[in-house]
Amino acid sequence: MKGVILAGGLGTRLYPLTHVTNKHLLPVYDKPMIYYPIRTLVGAGITDIMIVTSGPHVGHFLAVLKNGTELGVKHLEYAYQAKPDGGIADALLLAEDFSDGESVAVILGDNTTDADITNEVKRFHDGAVIFLRSVEDPHRFGIAEFDRDDPKKIVRIIEKPENPPSDMAVTGLYIYDAKVFPYIKGLKPSERGQLEITEVNNKYLDSGKLRWANLNGYWSDAGTFRSLYEANTYWAEKHGGDDE
Ligand code: DAU
Repeated sequence: MKGVILAGGLGTRLYPLTHVTNKHLLPVYDKPMIYYPIRTLVGAGITDIMIVTSGPHVGHFLAVLKNGTELGVKHLEYAYQAKPDGGIADALLLAEDFSDGESVAVILGDNTTDADITNEVKRFHDGAVIFLRSVEDPHRFGIAEFDRDDPKKIVRIIEKPENPPSDMAVTGLYIYDAKVFPYIKGLKPSERGQLEITEVNNKYLDSGKLRWANLNGYWSDAGTFRSLYEANTYWAEKHGGDDE
């Protein structure tokens, strides 16, 4: 399985910080944010990785990551998303040639977690796997709606619902087979002008090929000042002893 980290977008919610560098290179405690998704993939045995990025500071990634060997990456590629806010699915489409028919583990570059996804990577066969976590602010995420008669069965995923049907958020970790690329090509831009990953997941759901697993462990995105602060606090407390 190959790995894809989506690190495009303009990070406007973190202006003025993101005027000077890419959001995913901002510090989360003692490391650039992008180190965390890289470590999640490498920890699951995925060492062939593509980073998709965009915006005015893309060159900074090379300076920070070089060829990735210091982080255990065996092969690192970069792709450039021409429309920086084209959407998560638009960014993922750039990994089609790189994936070369293999399945892909995808992580959003602003997601940090200490969950271990090795088992899901190993047992993956086809279709798609999403990882869910309960959250306190469900209107900020893609949210799973469950069947009333079968509380483990997802009937729909709703992106940033006004009236969330549950508190189970779709985290920014996904595993897809190669069908993901034709699915993305069939999408139309949403109201906010993006190709939405939630619509991709709903396509897998409609074809009966979407599985979900609990993401066990800490998880947060870091795309707003509050979530960036909380992620910093968590990782500082977890690793803060390293300095002593
Ligand atoms: O964090 C999990 C959530 O991420 C999910 O629950 C949502 O379903 C999903 O849509 C996404 O929501 P966000 O509003 O947090 O996504 P955001 O626009 O902040 O983008 C998250 C990352 O995806 C960003 O750090 C880089 C990558 N991205 C995003 C866009 C819009 C790209 O690479 N290209 C893009 O065009």
